[in-house]
Amino acid sequence: MFQTTLPVVGPEFRDRTVQLARIAACVEKLRAGSPHWLALLGPRKVGKTSLLLETSRRVGAPVVFAILDVFDHVPVTDEVLRLLVLRVVDRVFAAECGQSLEATIDPDSYRAALSGSPRFATLPPDLRQLLLGLKELELTALTTSRLLDVPERLAERLGLFLVVAVDEFQELAALRVGRPAVEVLPMLRSAWQKHRRVSYVVSGSARSMMTDLVASQRSPFFGHFELMEVGEFEREDAVALLIDSAVPGRKVSRALAEKAVDTLGGNPFYLQLLGEQLAAIAAPLDDAALKEAVSRLLFHRTGRLALFFESELARVVGRSSASLALLEQLARGPARPVDLQRAVRLSSSSVVNYLARLGDIIRAREDGTWELSDRVMALWLQWRAPGGAAVPMTVIGDEGERVVAQALAELGFELVYQSKASRGAFDLLALRAGVMVGIQVKRSPLPLHFSAAAWKRMEAEAQRLGWLPVIASVTAEGVVTFLDPRKGRKKKGVSLSAGARIENLLRWVDLTSSSGARRAPPRRRARTRAA
Ligand SMILES: Nc1ncnc2c1ncn2[C@@H]1O[C@H](COP(=O)(O)OP(=O)(O)O)[C@@H](O)[C@H]1O
Ligand SMILES: [Mg+2]
Repeated sequence: MFQTTLPVVGPEFRDRTVQLARIAACVEKLRAGSPHWLALLGPRKVGKTSLLLETSRRVGAPVVFAILDVFDHVPVTDEVLRLLVLRVVDRVFAAECGQSLEATIDPDSYRAALSGSPRFATLPPDLRQLLLGLKELELTALTTSRLLDVPERLAERLGLFLVVAVDEFQELAALRVGRPAVEVLPMLRSAWQKHRRVSYVVSGSARSMMTDLVASQRSPFFGHFELMEVGEFEREDAVALLIDSAVPGRKVSRALAEKAVDTLGGNPFYLQLLGEQLAAIAAPLDDAALKEAVSRLLFHRTGRLALFFESELARVVGRSSASLALLEQLARGPARPVDLQRAVRLSSSSVVNYLARLGDIIRAREDGTWELSDRVMALWLQWRAPGGAAVPMTVIGDEGERVVAQALAELGFELVYQSKASRGAFDLLALRAGVMVGIQVKRSPLPLHFSAAAWKRMEAEAQRLGWLPVIASVTAEGVVTFLDPRKGRKKKGVSLSAGARIENLLRWVDLTSSSGARRAPPRRRARTRAA
């Protein structure tokens, strides 16, 4: 089964052999008495939390993993430190107490539960007192530094080894605690480096901030962490994910999985979303199903991947239209700051400022140009930008559809791929000023010939959907001719020759639609895509 809402562990967890081995090696060093610290770098949703949880599942006692995702508790305040310690206490004692300590509702039930642990009773009195009061403890510089030593003291006393992992660690960079406020990072560093039975793993999606935190000389953590990348899956593993996670009865063929990976790349989250979308399509899983799944997922306002990118976009550009314009420009391809300056009409210093503020969503290339870090997001941005109507067909269409879509987009049509279009008589639906035009694409030169049955089907479908039917012929050289089906000659089926040619498609659509064809309901915004 595909899993898209939670980190994955167990049988659903795939690939990552190299990374699992490195974390395992880290655990070995810890057990040998020389703990190492690890920093995982990777974009959002690439699988950092899953990797940590899976390692924790595989490594048994006496190694205990406590993993905290800082983003689970926004806004980020010093409370996150209490939560971190609470998580450690929970992982160490919960099984024995028969209940989660974190989830206890009030301090009294927490205390009652914790006191039920026989091992807890063996702890020295001051540590017991600290832990019993954990939920209410006032956080000052002094109490915080006592809290930070809890993992080491527990490990020592109870003969355990602990791996404490903090996900989205970069969020702690600006954190302070107590009054007068003391910076948290130096406190963490000085506590952690004395610990012999605890390894620390940090991870984060904000690459530049993370790199700065762990590899910059100015950082209190300089030189303490070993860096590890968590990136996309290799092609073979990505293909395997789609095939192996397939829902029973909805088998994904190798050829289809390969095509999907060529389109969406190897981010496991994107692939899981695609797998889920494919499974929801009530038809054989063929090329048409893949087109439909990709367009529902990505090229659709309410697609799950589109919504994910929409929230990423909101996070990085906020209300800045200049930032959005820069991103849209970069989505079309790598550009130098001077090109951007010209394209979006900004001064060179503001371009530099905006680029810096966009953070990890863009990256600099060796040749001095900038590009979007995520090519799938780049596609989505291109599609969403004005004039982006043909983008889906350039990604998932065949050669003929691509050329026709391009020609239509240049004429100002918006284009929609949908199941109706890809499975019925029409390959594309083109919209302009409320008129819906169904296009059947023929990859052959004139004259075209249709069987009587195929022709009837097209007419019936156009009638039912209220679309104006148009035929597009595409030659091997990529020349597109639009043809008027009303000018077909009926003789053993229907033939269309040069006489049926539409010289000016826009005018033809205007004239034909005003003479009777139905109009689409008015749409809210020009840039909104039809469902
Ligand atoms: N190793 C993996 N195998 C299969 N799917 C994965 C794997 N890693 C991540 N995923 C997919 O990506 C999604 C996000 O993973 P998560 O670990 O929460 O990412 P991160 O912590 O980097 O934001 C999961 O819900 C799952 O769909
Ligand atoms: Mg995570």
